[in-house]
Amino acid sequence: MCEYRVHTTHAHAERTAVRIGAATQAGTAPNTGEGGPDAGDDASMSRILVCYGSTEGQTAAIADRIGDVLAEAGHDPLVISTKHPPPELDLRRYDGLIVAASVHMGHHQRHAASFVRSRVGRFNELPSAFVSVSLTAATGDEAATHTTAEYVETFLEETGWNPDRTHVVAGALRYRSYGRLLGFVMRVIAARAGLDTDTSRDHEYTDWAGVEAFAQEFRTLLEQEPTSSH
Ligand SMILES: Cc1cc2nc3c(=O)[nH]c(=O)nc-3n(C[C@H](O)[C@H](O)[C@H](O)COP(=O)(O)O)c2cc1C
Repeated sequence: MCEYRVHTTHAHAERTAVRIGAATQAGTAPNTGEGGPDAGDDASMSRILVCYGSTEGQTAAIADRIGDVLAEAGHDPLVISTKHPPPELDLRRYDGLIVAASVHMGHHQRHAASFVRSRVGRFNELPSAFVSVSLTAATGDEAATHTTAEYVETFLEETGWNPDRTHVVAGALRYRSYGRLLGFVMRVIAARAGLDTDTSRDHEYTDWAGVEAFAQEFRTLLEQEPTSSH
């Protein structure tokens, strides 16, 4: 099943899967990645596809935040899940691509990797960025930096993608969504890593200001590039 969600600058008003960006709010054609060549066009507005792989929801929230920043800056982001991309998706319609995925058992989601791999020609043509979300990033020591760099490198090697930017983000411990056994295992891992062990609530380590700064940097990168779909 393909889920769609509407992106608004009123953060997270609706949560389901493809969100429609700035063009919709201005009353023009929504960015679904299809439509006529002039649909929603504005010389300074870029269409940006923000794709995410998310198992427990933190990376989806990060992708939302990136979309919010881009929309607030006057661009037209579309936020989609790599698990259920819209069938009509056409990357020729976009000026920039961002993929965010989270690490589970040492790897980013397979569907995120296969989404990129099957479209890697276009990914390597456009301004693009990869965001890697993990708990290792929350620990912040030298060994962790090495590990998170390896997670990123593996994803890029597996996909053949050469993004302009990569960004590592700390995720969350979502104990309330884990179930008993996984909650126990994650608590042991968290204790070893010096992270929170109170399983009665979730714990978020994401540096939201850092996510917003990354989105602003990407927007600057795009604004320096000639747009491809205008
Ligand atoms: C079953 C499981 C395995 C995980 N494995 C790793 C791992 O190998 N390395 C790591 O740094 N983080 C690991 N994490 C932490 C996740 O990357 C982190 O919780 C992240 O916020 C999940 O993002 P999501 O909610 O978008 O799926 C794991 C989490 C779970 C639940």
